[in-house]
Amino acid sequence: MRKNLGRREKVLDLLYQAEGNYLSGEELSNKLGVSRTTIWKYIKYLREAGYHIDSSSKIGYRLITPADNLLPEEIKRNLNTDVIGQKIIYYKEIESTNDAAKKLAQSGLKEGTIVVSEEQKKGKGRLGREFCSPLGGIWISCILRPDIKPTLATRATYIASLAIVKTINKLSDVDANIKWPNDILVGDKKVSGILTEMGAELDRVDYLVVGMGINLNFTLDSFDKSLHNKVTTIYHETGKKISRVKFVQVLLEEIEAIYQKLNDFEDILEEWKEYSYTIGKKVQVESSKEKVSGTAIDIASDGALIVKVGNEIRKFYSGEVSLGHSNFSSGN
Ligand code: BTN
Repeated sequence: MRKNLGRREKVLDLLYQAEGNYLSGEELSNKLGVSRTTIWKYIKYLREAGYHIDSSSKIGYRLITPADNLLPEEIKRNLNTDVIGQKIIYYKEIESTNDAAKKLAQSGLKEGTIVVSEEQKKGKGRLGREFCSPLGGIWISCILRPDIKPTLATRATYIASLAIVKTINKLSDVDANIKWPNDILVGDKKVSGILTEMGAELDRVDYLVVGMGINLNFTLDSFDKSLHNKVTTIYHETGKKISRVKFVQVLLEEIEAIYQKLNDFEDILEEWKEYSYTIGKKVQVESSKEKVSGTAIDIASDGALIVKVGNEIRKFYSGEVSLGHSNFSSGN
């Protein structure tokens, strides 16, 4: 039996290992060192979570259909990470995983903790916008505690966007790209967004909460009609559903691999640029102070967008970017 699993996780693991065959209540209770009544409670919990588990008083339990929900025991079964996702807090629904993760980070939860919810009732986008987060998507927040200065916190957004785009491209037939600073696009439509929030002192980060929303297995019906020419979902693009559990596992593994290179940010940036939808394009950048038009020519080593505005070279550290006819300034 694999290590680091809680008892409920072990029940599920054993049912999977039995590959559709029955496991007796006695066998399960011996293997886990708990009573058969406790085993029954675990089975009840799993059924309520959507698993189809057959039971027979004589021969025991067998797993018929797994539920593609994001229960910690499901994600952790085949997760190859050391830190990211080693603790997972799960909700069926919540207002915002970022808000929950911030509270947990403030209460001291360790780096790599994940908060995940099947749906969000008040998903938060950047600049105080709402983020539509129905069933079928991935709504997840990750607590990081990098030993860096607050000015370098945007690195986390680069890490997350690179991890998301790689995961999407690995698991689906679409060709996703990154629109600076933190939108993932398929074609010119947004399929994912990132909201990084921070708790910090003047010269050091206490925690980062990296919130990631991915429009995976649902249709455009969930969005307001006014957004239909700006957003898309992987399901809408491909007509295929992807295992959400697999998606989260690959995403967490990508995050961990890229996060390990945090101090070699130039390397991260080089790879990030391979997926950039922004570089080389005519852009309008709107910051809190101004709105300028120019051509995006590169990303600086500090993460700023470099824009040629007339004959001037300008750097932008934040802001809204519009490309061609696209304008993503209204939420998802
Ligand atoms: C944006 O595109 O404006 C950022 C969207 C970020 C959405 C994610 S979903 C998980 C996490 N929880 C939230 O409330 N927001 C982020």
